[in-house]
Amino acid sequence: MTKLFTHSGLCFFLFITMNLKAQNPKLTLDLTKTGANVSKHLYGLMTEEINHSYDGGLYAELIRNRIFKDNQNTPEAWSLIREGGAKASIQLVAAKPDNVPFEQRHQAINGALTTCLRLLVDTGGGRAGIANEGYWGIPVFPNTTYKASFYIKGTDSKPYPHNSWEPAPTVTLPVIADNTAGPITVSIESNDGKTIYASGTIDLIKSTFWKKYELMLTTAADVKPTSAARFVISTNRTGVYYFNLVSLFPPTYHDRPNGNRVDLMKLLAEMKPGFLRFPGGNFLEGPKLNDAFPWKSTLGPLENRPGHTGSWGYRPSDGMGLLEFLEWCEDLNMEPLLAVYVGYSLDGDHVDAGPLLKPYTDDALDEIEYVTGDVHTYWGAKRATDGHPAPFKLSYVEIGNEDGFDRSGSYDGRFAQFYDAIKAKYPNLHCIATIGGKDWLGARGKLTIRNPEIVDEHYYRNAWEMEEDAAHYDNYDRKGYKVFVGEWATREGAPTTNLNAALGDAAWMTGMERNSDLVIRSCYAPLFVNVNKATATAPKAWQWDSDLIGYDALTSYGSPSYYVQKMFNSYIGDKVVPVTGINIPTQTRPATKSDSAANKMPQPIPALFYVATQDTKTGKLFLKVVNTTGKQQQVDIDLKGVGKLSPDGIIVVIKGDKPEDTNTISDPKKIVPVASKVSGISKKFTRIFDAYSVSVLQINMLTK
Ligand code: AHR
Repeated sequence: MTKLFTHSGLCFFLFITMNLKAQNPKLTLDLTKTGANVSKHLYGLMTEEINHSYDGGLYAELIRNRIFKDNQNTPEAWSLIREGGAKASIQLVAAKPDNVPFEQRHQAINGALTTCLRLLVDTGGGRAGIANEGYWGIPVFPNTTYKASFYIKGTDSKPYPHNSWEPAPTVTLPVIADNTAGPITVSIESNDGKTIYASGTIDLIKSTFWKKYELMLTTAADVKPTSAARFVISTNRTGVYYFNLVSLFPPTYHDRPNGNRVDLMKLLAEMKPGFLRFPGGNFLEGPKLNDAFPWKSTLGPLENRPGHTGSWGYRPSDGMGLLEFLEWCEDLNMEPLLAVYVGYSLDGDHVDAGPLLKPYTDDALDEIEYVTGDVHTYWGAKRATDGHPAPFKLSYVEIGNEDGFDRSGSYDGRFAQFYDAIKAKYPNLHCIATIGGKDWLGARGKLTIRNPEIVDEHYYRNAWEMEEDAAHYDNYDRKGYKVFVGEWATREGAPTTNLNAALGDAAWMTGMERNSDLVIRSCYAPLFVNVNKATATAPKAWQWDSDLIGYDALTSYGSPSYYVQKMFNSYIGDKVVPVTGINIPTQTRPATKSDSAANKMPQPIPALFYVATQDTKTGKLFLKVVNTTGKQQQVDIDLKGVGKLSPDGIIVVIKGDKPEDTNTISDPKKIVPVASKVSGISKKFTRIFDAYSVSVLQINMLTK
């Protein structure tokens, strides 16, 4: 056998290999240095009507197309019930406002409720009625009381008298006597009608005028939860029945009338969000100049809300109106961050700065007054009439949304005009600009007339890009504007994000948190997604992949990204603790075609990310570590300048076997954080961080 080493050669080999043996990554938290302040409202929520976020989502209304305006051609979500010998039909009435046939006129309730549904029952002898399928089903739970309400009137089929100069009716209804007065049955039942989960009756009075009826429907204790159910209003008597504003509410969060879904509010409450950015996003703007969020027609009784053209392919009911947004903030102790419409619409039109824009600045000032004015102001008094005399606290107003898309260059002038108008009346309000930042969209334009105090930057990227740019804010100019990261997300996984996205998110969040003196607010987007998939006849419920919280009619769940948000905001101090890392492992992404074309090879980037903060009241330290590698990482931790430590702490870890792992509506808790106790914490200690994991280590002090 060949002798491989001489004695001195072996010693040399051992010396080299021992020194080549990878050193543990080491994190030194330097408590002798004063770190930056952590913004109190660093983490908040961003919301808009996308993916059925409100209608078919947070807003608890269960009836889809309750005022029959969703589709001018067909009573979408409604169907006819016809059983036994009954002969009946349904038809939309006055669906096309510019072309209402004579025989369909005279049925509007008011200027908002102009379209209704007619049920014509010309032969009795069985049940006839209308059924609503809800938003992908009506959720049925045991022992639950639902509040149903609707407008109805019943008449005969006599033609409405018309003047000689008016057009003759194009359709004549069969002669049906007015036999409509009497009981009308209202039920929540299985889709085949065989199981009635809850039912009641109203006594329809004989009248040719609209009347609103309300009743409570309660399910039995032994009902199994299901969403294979529909809402039905039916009769056994002949006649012509008209319906409008049909509504069904389950119990809501804090029992608010016209309120929110309880499970979704609980998920949000657990995130402890500091603020709510609303109403968009694109939903603020709308496709055309007249489609902006019409806050004035979202106020007061539902009877006054016509809904409007949304930005995401379906018609919002505006049941989630301005006051509902504010009450949502109140319920979760969030500060509203109001985005006002500033005259740019998604299809590309804009209103020039100057006198033409004045009505828009006036409208924004009215809106701010509705939010913040006392009851002696015009709009504050209106808010009081709507049921909320106390003004809301508002510190930030965003002037538009993503105006980098406006290639006309008009935002500079529009921003200045809004800024001046708002500051003149509300000098303490902070105005957020949507261009001028370093995100690709914001960087398309510059503000030259007014200097922005705060700029909204948006980042939608894959996990690699987030990790590569996790130090994005480390070198921003501290003398310039502050940053609001008003939309950001790692977009991997659909409809909700997967673990890899959550790792990318966490890496990015370490950077925002470390620079929270600069990044004063941030919110992930989009927040919500209804996860119902496309069927042969209907498109899928969502328009945007990779969202934070998913749900169907019955249940909801958080994505791994949701849990990362929750972890980051549940364990956070008020001061950043400077951390130095050495021997940090790296990762290199595979080369792509564009790398080859550019003759550039991908460079290694860190694979371990970290940030530390301290709660200066309790002394608690929070160290967040993101391990994006598929290997455990043994990390040496050095707490420089720390006081007397408790050896016991807490670690919260979210992890998975592979980056693609995810939560779904049928497997909602596959990837969730687990908290456990840790011992052995001292000034210098070693901790193993799991593969594909985000960990928060809470270190407790015995003295501050
Ligand atoms: O979050 C989805 C959309 O992304 C927002 O509506 C818009 O502001 C952005 O382009």
